[in-house]
Amino acid sequence: MSKVLVTGGLGFIGSHTAVELMARGHEVVLVDNLTNTRAEVLDGIEAISGTRPVWENVDLASQPACAALMAKHSNIDGIIHFAAHKAVGESVAKPLDYYQNNLGSLMNLLEFVRTEPKCAFIFSSSCTVYGQADDLPIREEAPIKPAESPYGNTKQIGEEILQDCAKAYGFKVIALRYFNPVGGHPSAKIGELPNGVPQNLVPFITQSAAGQRGALKVFGNDYDTRDGTCVRDYIHVVDVAKAHILAMERLVAGKVEEPVEVYNLGTGTGSTVVEVLTAFTKATGIDIKWEYAARRPGDVVAAYADTKKALEGLGWRAELSLEQSMADAWRWQETLGQSV
Ligand code: UD1
Repeated sequence: MSKVLVTGGLGFIGSHTAVELMARGHEVVLVDNLTNTRAEVLDGIEAISGTRPVWENVDLASQPACAALMAKHSNIDGIIHFAAHKAVGESVAKPLDYYQNNLGSLMNLLEFVRTEPKCAFIFSSSCTVYGQADDLPIREEAPIKPAESPYGNTKQIGEEILQDCAKAYGFKVIALRYFNPVGGHPSAKIGELPNGVPQNLVPFITQSAAGQRGALKVFGNDYDTRDGTCVRDYIHVVDVAKAHILAMERLVAGKVEEPVEVYNLGTGTGSTVVEVLTAFTKATGIDIKWEYAARRPGDVVAAYADTKKALEGLGWRAELSLEQSMADAWRWQETLGQSV
C-alpha cells in the first residue's frame, strides 16, 4: 500500500483516479484549489469509496504554499499531478496564466521530488503534443509537433522539464498522454463539471440532451475521413484512472527503465463526431439536435492511439466501450440536473 498525493484530485480525471487508488488499498491525499471544480466532489468520492480522503486546498503554483504542503506530507510514496488549466481557447487569451500555473506547479512539485528521488511522479500529458501526426495509429515515438496553443505548449514544455530534471537529479517519472477522456463513474456520483459553455464534445452533447444548450455544431464535414467529420480516440475516464494506478505501482516497484517513460492512454480506435452522436443515441435513446458548422481552427483531422506500449509496460488496455462512456456521461448529467 502506498500513500499518494493526487493534485487536481477533485477534478474530472483526478477524482476518478482517487477512487481507483482507494479501491486498490492505497491511501490518498487530494490537493485542489477548486479553480475548475467544486468541493462537493469530495462527497461523491466518499460515497463511492466509503472513506473521506484528506483534502488540501492549496495553490501549487505558489512556491511557499507548495513547500509547506510537501513538508506536511513528506512521507508520501508518490505524486500524480493532474492540477492544471486545460481550456485551449482561454490559454490563447491568457497565456501567462497558463505558463505560470501549469509550469509553476510542476516545478514546485519537482523541487520536492529532487530532495526525495524515491517519490514516484506521474505527469498528465496529452495527445495534443503530437499535433496532426503523420502516421496513424500514433506511437509514442511520433515526433512532437509545434504546439497549437499555450495550453498544448505547457504539456510539451512540461515533458521537457521532466526529461531534464529526471536525468539531472536521478529520479524516474511516467508521463501519460491522454487521448479524449470522457464518460463518468458508473455510480453517477462523480463526473465532468465543465465551466460555462462546454468546449469539448461530450459535455456539450449531454447538456444539449438535457435541454440546456441548443443544437450541437459539428465542426466541419469536409475532412478526409469516412463521414467527413474529425476522428478522435474517446476513452472512458475509469479506464484512464486505472492506468494511473498501474503506472504508480510500476514506479514504486522500481521497474521504470528510462528517466521518463511515456505512454499513450487511448483505446486504439478512432470515432468520428457523427459516430459519437450515434453511440450516444444508442446508449440513451435520446436524439441530439445537431447541424454542420465551419471547421474549428486548430482541430486536427484524426488522432487515435497505438496502444501496444501501454499494454507491454503497464499491463493496461482500455476495457470500456464508447457506448458505456456515453451511458455514464448521461447518467452523471442526469444527477447534475437533479442537483440544480
Ligand atoms: C481538445 C483540445 C485538446 C485538449 C482536449 C482536452 C482543441 C483544438 N483541442 O481536444 O488540446 O487536450 O480538448 O480535453 O481544442 N466538436 C464538435 N462540436 C463541439 C465540440 C467539439 O464538432 O461543440 C468536435 C471537434 O471538432 C473534435 C471533436 O468534436 O473533432 C472533439 O473535440 P473536443 O472534445 O473539444 O476534443 P479535442 O479537440 O480532441
